[in-house]
Amino acid sequence: MARRKKIYEGKAKIMYEGPEPGTLVQYFKDDATAFNAEKRAKVEGKGVLNNRLSEFFMKGLTQIGVPNHFIKRLNMREQLVRSVEIIPLEVVVRNFAAGSLSARLGMAEGTPLPRPIVEFCLKDDALGDPLVSEEHICAFGWATQQDLDDMISLALRVNDFMSGLMLAVGIKLVDFKIEIGRIWENDFQRLIVADEISPDSCRLWDIETGQKLDKDVFRRDLGNLTDAYTEVARRLGVLPSNVTHAPRPTLIN
Ligand code: C5P
Repeated sequence: MARRKKIYEGKAKIMYEGPEPGTLVQYFKDDATAFNAEKRAKVEGKGVLNNRLSEFFMKGLTQIGVPNHFIKRLNMREQLVRSVEIIPLEVVVRNFAAGSLSARLGMAEGTPLPRPIVEFCLKDDALGDPLVSEEHICAFGWATQQDLDDMISLALRVNDFMSGLMLAVGIKLVDFKIEIGRIWENDFQRLIVADEISPDSCRLWDIETGQKLDKDVFRRDLGNLTDAYTEVARRLGVLPSNVTHAPRPTLIN
């Protein structure tokens, strides 16, 4: 059987040529990596959960008018997405101190921030995705000032949407990372949310217990990653409510 053309293989996903021009098939792997892939493992079921969760978040964003790359889910591990020119920046939004911000500024994890803080990191594995300023971004041409304004606006809309969605199921959205891509419509370009939104790229803490329900479970050896992601999916109604451990997740639809 003819294989589709592989466009790009990353740490957690593979992009294949899509069935029509301007589309790609995004395949979610079970691979978990942390610390710039120094730590890696196969986590059975993670790809299935992230495929379904990213679909859920992107569809919700579409419903409130936040443009994104999602077109439709194809199967348990694959979704059809719009092909974009990825801006080489990771856009991080933080509501509470954690992770690299806590390490950098000596701020206790969980400290509420005075307002959501947007950070940019250059997508460069060899350099360990360094934090960069808006000055760097404009001076080196990774994005224009207009792009930056649009990226911040998109990131804050995603933050409000995700914070509310999570709050409703007893989860605190501590921080998250998104990637943004450029598309052309006739002669106009537009920025849209791309890549994925999943517990791989968010910090999610149970509001009552502080239990971590995100990739920090893997980074910091805090337990079973699939169980944590299954709990997020179950609370959001993406998995049946009686499932607590789903190495082979069952989809509702
Ligand atoms: O490590 P740091 O505290 O900067 O991460 C901030 C947020 O961005 C976390 O939710 C983390 O999961 C996410 N992130 C990511 N991919 C990276 C770096 C950070 O998804 N390469």
